[in-house]
Amino acid sequence: MTVHPLDPLSRDEISRAAGIARASGGLSDASWFETIALHEPSKQALKDGTSRREAFVCCYDPQSGQTWDGIADLDAGKFRVWRHVEGMHARIVADEFAAGGDVAKADPAFIAACAKRGITDMDSVLVEAWAAGHFAIEDEEGERIAYGHCWVRNESGDNPYARPIANLHPVIDLRRMKVLRVDDFGIVPLPPECTPIIHPSPRVDLKPLEITQPEGPSFTVEGNLVRWQKWQLRVGFHVRDGLIFHTIGYEDQGKLRSIMHRASMAEMVVPYGDPTGANYRRNAFDTGEYGVGQFLDSLTLGCDCLGHIHYFDAWGHDWHGKPKLIRNAICMHEEDFGTLWKFTNWLTGEVTVKRSRRLVISSISTIGNYVYGFFWYFYQDGTIGVEVKATGIPFASALPVGTKSPYGALMAPGIEAHVHQHVFSYRFDMAVDGEKNSVKEVDFSAMPTGPGNPYGNAIRINERMLVSELQAQRDIDLHAQRYWKIVNAEKKNALDEPTAYKLVPGVNAFPYQDPLSPVGQRAGFMYHHFWATQYAEGENYPAGQYPNQHKGGDGLPAWTKADRSLDQQNVVVWYTMNYHHLPRPEDWPVQPCVYANFHWMPSGFFDANPALDVPSPKPKHCCA
Ligand code: NI
Repeated sequence: MTVHPLDPLSRDEISRAAGIARASGGLSDASWFETIALHEPSKQALKDGTSRREAFVCCYDPQSGQTWDGIADLDAGKFRVWRHVEGMHARIVADEFAAGGDVAKADPAFIAACAKRGITDMDSVLVEAWAAGHFAIEDEEGERIAYGHCWVRNESGDNPYARPIANLHPVIDLRRMKVLRVDDFGIVPLPPECTPIIHPSPRVDLKPLEITQPEGPSFTVEGNLVRWQKWQLRVGFHVRDGLIFHTIGYEDQGKLRSIMHRASMAEMVVPYGDPTGANYRRNAFDTGEYGVGQFLDSLTLGCDCLGHIHYFDAWGHDWHGKPKLIRNAICMHEEDFGTLWKFTNWLTGEVTVKRSRRLVISSISTIGNYVYGFFWYFYQDGTIGVEVKATGIPFASALPVGTKSPYGALMAPGIEAHVHQHVFSYRFDMAVDGEKNSVKEVDFSAMPTGPGNPYGNAIRINERMLVSELQAQRDIDLHAQRYWKIVNAEKKNALDEPTAYKLVPGVNAFPYQDPLSPVGQRAGFMYHHFWATQYAEGENYPAGQYPNQHKGGDGLPAWTKADRSLDQQNVVVWYTMNYHHLPRPEDWPVQPCVYANFHWMPSGFFDANPALDVPSPKPKHCCA
């Protein structure tokens, strides 16, 4: 199999990149790897066929306290760029996250604080080394810090988050691997023993449900290239972003038309709304502070995925730079999706009905207590659906039985979950019928009753171009039924209108954090639902390349100050999807999936319904 320039790094390439970094100088033997991933070739190099296999490498050196990054030319065996990134902190990788917790559990001051609470079995204690954020706290400045959150597991051992140790937080110096201090805001009794997650007597009335595709699936796969029902796309993987897509296109009248060059979930932040104790410190940037890709689950047929599945494996790495296989990291299958379209001709009695089928490509990332399913749907009518399924164990805190807090909801006696938001930032490098695109906002408004509108029913359609980056910082508006269109002004459909795809918001919310608060400054992207930027190399993550412990202002708010043109440019769309979450008793001890989604739909991209040619299903006995 020949390697495509957009294919993720192979096992050998990861090893080679690690070797180049080790040999490059600048790093001590104690240094470790944050990221070894494909450095994607430019569109020009892809077009010219001049792309080279390159790796983006980021390392942290505890001896110097420095973060280094660079781009390694894998064939030449050397770095093209290799630099100390001044003042920036690498992500917390899985090994460091685990090591930080172990350091805390062995610390005498922490053990003593547990003992004060009657906790003496340290094996039952879980300490998670969370990214510390940036709060301008004196002894943390300039150091590599994790802020600990602690629990005692339940007796049955199936829930490590069963009994939160509220108000107790070891602050871990991740560079020296020691406890810097223990923040103790006072004893809260441990909540009562928690219900096991694994039910002792599962219900017995569920009959088997099998999905069969006797002739196999309708997709074809060549390496990372997928073809299905006129769709063509490449599946990719990155240890930080997780699942990514490249060169998404749809075949129309025998010709493949491009829609997006690249699509991914680029960042997320989960700010919590309780200001007491140290609860303000919980603001997880799961992508930029940890990396959702490194935590992808190995999926299981029949459990995670049902039907005829194609799995993609992914090569990540540990902090020694050793390649690590995530088997079955990405799942792909077809799903029946009910009616695609239907018409009953009441004059003749003729019924035409087509069934909808969608291609589902997904991955699931388990980050501590939370589990995020990242689902992408491709429909026969040209629609792309983007969905997050959130499950796992809500972040719980303890409070004395019989009390309540204004910032949370009780899930169980003595256990509350604080109100929080899951804010996702999706990045789309657009390519609607080519590289030069423009941005339009579409609003609808009522018109006053009067001349031209005598019965007050008029709905005016207001379309306007958003011609620069500052103009294109927009929010959803239910009064205006607002959506955004990415158009190609040079390509016209049969109605002589520019071809376009529209972004249709779904579940969403507004943030509550003060924009000047520490998390508000670090997650500037969450203050608008829609952003558009002119493509620039290196602008990949909306809170910046290094959000861990960053004081803020980087990423979208910084780049868009340039107010670059969006008129017939390589447009990148950033969509913020905010899931506002106050957990319920039904979310304990484990939360059924909650869903948040949005869609991209063709809007004059095609001349007519592109799914007219979908064949009618063969009727079964009930409707034959
Ligand atoms: Ni939640």
